Amino acid sequence: MVFVSDNKRILSGMRSTNPKLHIGNYEGALRNWVELQNEGFELYCMVADWHTLTTNSGKDSGTNARSVAKDFIAGGIDPSKSAVFIQSHVKEHAELHLLFSMITPLGWVERNPTYKEKQGDIGGAEREPYGLLGYPVLQTADILLYRPFGVPVGRDQAPHLEIGNDIGQRFNRLYDVELFSPYKYMIPEDELRAKLPGLDMRKMSKSYDNCIYLSDTEDETAEKINSAFTTPSKLKKTDPGIPEGCAVCQYLRLYSPNWEQQWAEDVAGERGCFQSKKELTEVLNEFLRPMRERRAQISDADIEEILIVGAEKARAVAAETMVQVRAAMGLF
Ligand code: TRP
Repeated sequence: MVFVSDNKRILSGMRSTNPKLHIGNYEGALRNWVELQNEGFELYCMVADWHTLTTNSGKDSGTNARSVAKDFIAGGIDPSKSAVFIQSHVKEHAELHLLFSMITPLGWVERNPTYKEKQGDIGGAEREPYGLLGYPVLQTADILLYRPFGVPVGRDQAPHLEIGNDIGQRFNRLYDVELFSPYKYMIPEDELRAKLPGLDMRKMSKSYDNCIYLSDTEDETAEKINSAFTTPSKLKKTDPGIPEGCAVCQYLRLYSPNWEQQWAEDVAGERGCFQSKKELTEVLNEFLRPMRERRAQISDADIEEILIVGAEKARAVAAETMVQVRAAMGLF
C-alpha cells in the first residue's frame, strides 16, 4: 500500500482484552502501522482500554494496556516517531463520544453486525451493558479527534469504520461545517493477512486457545506448531495435502520464502507434515526473534515514559479538534 497525501495523520487502536498480541493482530493491523510509520506518516497508536470494558471486568486494565503498548513497540512502532498512548489517558475521547452519542441514530448502532454478535455471547438485554451498543460511537470519537487521513485495521473492523464516516458527515451536515473529511479504510489487501486463521483453522482468538503470541518463547512456538492442525486426511507422507485448509501451510505462505515449493510437495505427497512443521518453526522463530529482543529491552519505566509523551502528543491534536466541535455545536 503506498498512499500520497498532505494529511499525514493516521490513527488506529487495539483493545487490551488480552495482554499479549498474537500474529493475527500483527498481520491484520500492526504490520500496516509499521509500514505507514516508515513511509513517513504521523501515527497515533492507541490502546483502547475503555473499549475493553464492554466485555471485561477491568481490574487488570492498567497492566494489560501497558503490556499491549509494549507489544506495539516490539512489533516495530518507534516511539520517537509515533505517539503510543492509552485511550483513557486522553479524556477528550470521552467528551467527543458523549457529543456524538447525541447525533447518532439508534438504528445505525443497532444494525452493527459486531454488536449483534457480542450481544449473543453476553446473553440478554438485562446483562448487556449500554456501552456495548455505543462501541462504534466511541470508536468514531477515537478516530475523528485526530481527523486522520486513514485508519489501518483488520477486516473485522470495517463496519465500525463505516459508521464512523457516516457520523462525521452527519456532524458536518447538522452543524453546517466541514470539520470531518472522510478517512480511508486501510485493510490488508492480502486475504490471509486480513484474517489470519488460528492453529486449529478457526478464527485466531484467546478464547479458542489457538494463538501464537509475539511474546511466546522459541520453545512455546515450536510446541504450538507441533500440535497445529494440518490436512485431516493426510496420515502419512505420501497422502496428498490440501494447503488451503492446513494451518501450517497457511503460515508457511506468509513466513517462508520457499512456500510455493513446500505447498507443491505437500499436494504431491512428497513431504510429511512433520517436515513442514519443523521448517515453519524455524522461519517463524526467525521472524519473531527481533520482536522478542525488542520487547525484552523495554522496562516498565520506559513504557510509562513513552505513554506520558504519547498522551501529550495525542492530547494536543484532540484538544484542538474539541475547540472546533464545541464551537460548531454552540457550546461555550
Ligand atoms: N475496535 C478495535 C478493536 O477491537 C479497537 C479500536 C478502538 C480502534 N478504537 C479504535 C481501532 C479506533 C481503530 C480506530 O481492535
